[in-house]
Amino acid sequence: MILTRRLLACVAAALLLTNTVAFAIPERATYFDPSLPIDKRVDDLMSRMTEDEKIGQLNQLFYFAQFMKPEMIDPGLREGKIGSLLFVTDPATINRFQKIAVEQSRLKIPLLFGFDVIHGFRTIFPVPLALASSWDVDLVERVQTIAAREASATGIRWTFAPMLDIARDPRWGRIVEGAGEDPFLGARIAAAQVRGFQGQDPASPGRLLACMKHFAGYGAAAGGRDYDAAYISDAELYNVYLPPFQAAVDAGVGSAMSAYMDLNDVPATGNAFLLHDVLRKQWGFKGFVVSDADAVGNLVTHGFAEDKADAAARALTAGVDMEMSIPSGISNAYSNNLAKLIKEKRVTTAQLDEAVRRVLEAKFKVGLFENPYADEARAASMHNNPEHRKMARIAAQRSAVLLRNEGNLLPLDPKFSSIAVIGPLADSKRDIRGSWSLADDMKTAVTVVEGIRAKVRSGVKVEYAPGVDIARSYPSLFELFFGPRPKLWNETQGPEEFDKAVKLARSSELVVMVLGQHEEMSGEGASQSTIELPGRQRELLEAVSALGKPTVLVLINGRPLDISWAVTRVPAILEAWHPGAEGGNAIADLLWGDATPVGKLPITWPRSSGQIPIYYARNLTQEPESKPGFKSRYWDIPTSPLYPFGYGLSYTSFGYSNLRVSKGTAKLGESVEVTVDVENTGRRAGEEVAQLYIHQRSGSASRPTRELKGFERVVLAPGEKKTVRLTLGKRELTYWSSATRGWVHEPATFDVWVGGDSNATLHTEFQIAR
Ligand code: NOJ
Repeated sequence: MILTRRLLACVAAALLLTNTVAFAIPERATYFDPSLPIDKRVDDLMSRMTEDEKIGQLNQLFYFAQFMKPEMIDPGLREGKIGSLLFVTDPATINRFQKIAVEQSRLKIPLLFGFDVIHGFRTIFPVPLALASSWDVDLVERVQTIAAREASATGIRWTFAPMLDIARDPRWGRIVEGAGEDPFLGARIAAAQVRGFQGQDPASPGRLLACMKHFAGYGAAAGGRDYDAAYISDAELYNVYLPPFQAAVDAGVGSAMSAYMDLNDVPATGNAFLLHDVLRKQWGFKGFVVSDADAVGNLVTHGFAEDKADAAARALTAGVDMEMSIPSGISNAYSNNLAKLIKEKRVTTAQLDEAVRRVLEAKFKVGLFENPYADEARAASMHNNPEHRKMARIAAQRSAVLLRNEGNLLPLDPKFSSIAVIGPLADSKRDIRGSWSLADDMKTAVTVVEGIRAKVRSGVKVEYAPGVDIARSYPSLFELFFGPRPKLWNETQGPEEFDKAVKLARSSELVVMVLGQHEEMSGEGASQSTIELPGRQRELLEAVSALGKPTVLVLINGRPLDISWAVTRVPAILEAWHPGAEGGNAIADLLWGDATPVGKLPITWPRSSGQIPIYYARNLTQEPESKPGFKSRYWDIPTSPLYPFGYGLSYTSFGYSNLRVSKGTAKLGESVEVTVDVENTGRRAGEEVAQLYIHQRSGSASRPTRELKGFERVVLAPGEKKTVRLTLGKRELTYWSSATRGWVHEPATFDVWVGGDSNATLHTEFQIAR
């Protein structure tokens, strides 16, 4: 994704490759026969391919309609030098390119079109961190089913999702793209996404191939600096960072993307331990691996490979099948070097064949040889599809997390007749959507101001004032798509706008403040050193809060922010994240009680930047918090987070009781059933996420104080009580031990807690005996 206009210009030249000659192949070649097994078709096709054609299948190029002309790509397609294109989102252009590949190239091998379909394609859903906040795996699956439907109609048959990087440092901008800090929740969401994208069969209508990324450890970047090296112990890797990836493999994910960064000094894209030992040998992954953009070439930049040829040899040998290259023709490591490497015997033909086989298998698996083209009419029906928009609204309602609701200010009383909506994000179509919203129609996104106006009864005055403006001090790489933001206000405008907003608040009965971050403040290349609210937003909040009006704070953002000041002064706080195209409507639904908040934090919320990294599943120290004097603590601020992992309020309340285990003592390998009663103790209907945490008290290695090992959603009418059953099987009780350097399931006493967040107090225990 890192491209400059200059680079693209020289690319153009490089891509206007040589003339081509199209050779006829027998029309009825075996590999076109869909009744044959895929391996036979691949055998046949490969027996006809030249070495150059094979290398071409490993080559993936970006195509940016904004800066490139299709003619730049055509010669390479005719010559069979390109196996895949990414970033083409117009079905007519896709069909144009595909026609050349399947009609004019010698072997007529269709192209695989890929794109970052991360949280929607034409319809933008909440960002992944928000979707994870729903803790609703069916919802996540349904959302990705729609995203797959929209993208595949357009001819995109491969998405670079799900992003499965565990992230425990909100300074890292890409925390917005994943499911948060927890391996158990992350694994459940990972599998749901794979099912949503691929269905039972990625070749079936409306489905596409998923690509789990970024394999692996990218979220552990030192200091939260994007692309920075990660140092992760084997125990952490197996117990924390890898489980979501393994869950995706178990769910049948078709491809994987190697990460950019160094993992324990070996770049992930040249890392045979990850790509071969773990992925293929331990997990039996049968799909293909693509590098992240230019990650093969960058093995040189990392100070790992000697030159691009060395980089190509080492990436291929480690297990990277396809190279995603920026379209320079200069930096392309595979296409420029593999033939030479084979001649010099630094890479074998067998290695090349293995990679090509995997790529071709994927093309057959998604049915490209039978259905290479986009359905342009169907693709058109995917714009503003009302059913999809409806789902986007539901998803946004279910992804929001209610953090605070003093005096039950929410849901709002319909009595308020003048409402001030204040803040730089309150009327921003761009920001309601979030990172990776690249193929939608931004105009159709609904802002908070619009959502509120559509919600309130007639006669209610809704007025808007931004109050302050915000900006990144360093431009985002995504400005390539949307252009730069308008310049910041000047010295006169700034104070004027601030005062206007405070005045509006003063003259209104209710204030809804919408604060947070621009969409490009999270995502790729969007690390930041603090989690403070950018610009003068906190000052504005203070000035407005001082008026003593009923005030609701709605947060639009892609990472937890420092709201410590607000949590003692602002009565109601709703974390909406970047909720997607229907965000404004969903927020209004929640504020006025047409929907009830059901979200729970998929991440521990720090009080301030100084607590980072902070996550709940940490080990005990010799000075546990329960010990008088508790010397582990910071002396200046509490050690506890602002909000614990799993936290989220409802408009009703829930009580937990009667926690029991099926056996006080179980044998190694036996399962233990945990049951608990959950009751709606409030006066409104609601939905709770009952969460099960365990702690293994002793073993060959120390275990975290708490680990999530089960959860279930419960819908309850007022006063209703239901029994929730969760199972702790061998898998949940097994971990990778640094002491034995392997997986262990050990006899020990286990603590069990069940409740509405990771601070749950209802406790029991059981033993695992030999
Ligand atoms: C780079 C990003 O790291 C990756 O997540 C994305 O899929 C590729 N660019 C393609 O856009």
